[in-house]
Amino acid sequence: MSDPFGRAIRDFHRGEQDEPLLQLDGDEVNEHPIEEFYFGERTPDQDGTEFLESRLEGPLLDLGAGAGRDSLYFQDRFETVALEVSDHLVATMRERGVDDARLGDMFALREGFGRDRFSSVLAYGTQLGLARSMRRLREFLGDLAHVTADDATAVLDNYDPEYDETRELLGYRHDPTPGLGFRVMHFEYEGDVGDTLLFRLFSPDRLRDACVGTGWRLDEVNRGAVSNEYHYQAVLEKE
Ligand SMILES: C[S@@+](CC[C@H](N)C(=O)[O-])C[C@H]1O[C@@H](n2cnc3c(N)ncnc32)[C@H](O)[C@@H]1O
Repeated sequence: MSDPFGRAIRDFHRGEQDEPLLQLDGDEVNEHPIEEFYFGERTPDQDGTEFLESRLEGPLLDLGAGAGRDSLYFQDRFETVALEVSDHLVATMRERGVDDARLGDMFALREGFGRDRFSSVLAYGTQLGLARSMRRLREFLGDLAHVTADDATAVLDNYDPEYDETRELLGYRHDPTPGLGFRVMHFEYEGDVGDTLLFRLFSPDRLRDACVGTGWRLDEVNRGAVSNEYHYQAVLEKE
């Protein structure tokens, strides 16, 4: 399978990236800032770390762990499993010292993990939107409930389509339903064109609705710093 995103990040890690990783929607093109997005080290006093530490505990499942920034931090505190769909990123994480980096699909959790396996879950990077529909989001939440313990927490993020800044994102597509939107884009690297990615964007209120009947309830919403409020992290707790 073509994986320009994972390959470019792996090449960056190995000092072999000669061409930019591009993010495209039609004629719109952005250069994806690999170093800034994926290679900053998480530190205890950094914005957001205290919040995550207050809501996460081991065993932790890091969904869509990328180059392993958060798994590298949390594995020193408690058991952490880093799940990635990209072979290149699993290799990158192992080379960077992630202890338990696994290839797998965050939307097929029951295939990889047993009941009650984790006490907390983190998904950072808006990959949750790749559920693509609210029905698949509910199925994901049901599967997540299955692989987590009774008192588990999950910290999940997305862009909030109620904010103007979200509507300015590359690939944004409007949905007239309050609190919902889409994002469509693909990545290119060294002429290798990735699959078109469809993200479902939903507000915290729509996520609260999606939780009904899945075993989760929305406990808290943590928004980004000033001018970044359109990006939120929602904390789900078991009912
Ligand atoms: C924006 S990156 C975030 C990476 C990392 N969490 C971070 O904050 O640096 C999103 C990641 O989700 C991964 N991903 C996308 N779909 C996935 C799936 N179905 N299962 C597991 N990982 C997935 C991508 O390969 C990518 O590395």
